[in-house]
Amino acid sequence: MYNSKISGLGYYVPDNIVTNNELSKFMDTNDAWIQERTGIKERRWIKEGSDDTTSVMGAKASRIAIERAGLKNEDIDFIVFATLSPDYYFPGGGVQLQEMLDMKTIGALDVRNQCSGFIYAISVADQFIKTGMYNNILVVGAEYHSSGLDKTTRGRGVSVIFGDGAGAAVLSRTNDNTKGILSSHLHSEGKHAEELIVSSPSSKRWINEIIDSNNKEDESYYPYMNGTFVFKHAVVRFSEAINEGLQANNLRVSDIDMLIPHQANLRISQFIQRKFKLNDDQVFNNIMKYGNTTAASVIIALTEAWEKGKIKDNDLVVLAAFGSGFTWGSVIMRW
Ligand code: COA
Repeated sequence: MYNSKISGLGYYVPDNIVTNNELSKFMDTNDAWIQERTGIKERRWIKEGSDDTTSVMGAKASRIAIERAGLKNEDIDFIVFATLSPDYYFPGGGVQLQEMLDMKTIGALDVRNQCSGFIYAISVADQFIKTGMYNNILVVGAEYHSSGLDKTTRGRGVSVIFGDGAGAAVLSRTNDNTKGILSSHLHSEGKHAEELIVSSPSSKRWINEIIDSNNKEDESYYPYMNGTFVFKHAVVRFSEAINEGLQANNLRVSDIDMLIPHQANLRISQFIQRKFKLNDDQVFNNIMKYGNTTAASVIIALTEAWEKGKIKDNDLVVLAAFGSGFTWGSVIMRW
């Protein structure tokens, strides 16, 4: 068995900053409400006319991560791409990355686990490296939310939260068993699938209901979120996932050097921080600037924390996420 470690990190967010005040020009909301409930001050939304898409942003983040890993695109053996907002209904974005990055005809796997997408993706990549099948895997999380949000007052409970962006990591084989990914734990509870969902388009409703009715007011095109319900489950599952990872490695909370929680809501991160009695240097948040970028959020935050020098050699880094499905999980790594 080999170990896998992150050898390169990168992220890309669109230039276009949308502040809370700007949102209030087209929906009934305000900066105070959004900041108080979510901690978000602004988010990036792809500007109309931009060439950015989910896979284009993923490719931009990937180029940075591959270069920082000291590798060339042809050194990548496999792609794992997590998104809930792919460019196409099918095929998934993994093959687009293979093409945009001019890679060999390597395998490209798409992961559909929403806010937990990056945790699932990196866990899958880790298994391929552990077995010795691949040496270098590109793991990407990218989201283009802004094209699919209800930007009227009707959708304000959801639309103010989400932002666009992408992050990428190169996971590489290491023979040093003391470094890299120590464990990953993944969970799901499908009975809550409809508490956070975009239910159309879907194969179930395609012809009769969607094409025939052609109803622009059909709310099922937009994300639905039972916010309070999601919040309550998130704080419980985040805690469980972190504890499970620590226990599996005989570690204690005091061993955590850096927790990167999925950026769902600053209040959720703060709740977890208080519960685990972590100080401000042990938890990294950037939801204030980017909103919730779903599958991209953990990898963008990890990259920013690393760029700011907040993650040092030998640090114990914990990644944790919860989201639609419900799905949740954690990854523990020694940097
Ligand atoms: N601006 C102003 N008012 C808003 C608003 C907005 N953007 N969105 C909702 N409101 C209003 C509601 O209409 C409601 O008004 P009412 O009392 O007159 O009916 C009021 O604010 C409270 O709405 P509610 O949805 O109960 O707010 P909340 O305190 O639960 O906060 C969330 C909403 C979404 C911020 C919160 O539930 C949350 O963060 N949940 C978790 C979300 C999450 O993490 N999602 C990602 C999962 S990975």
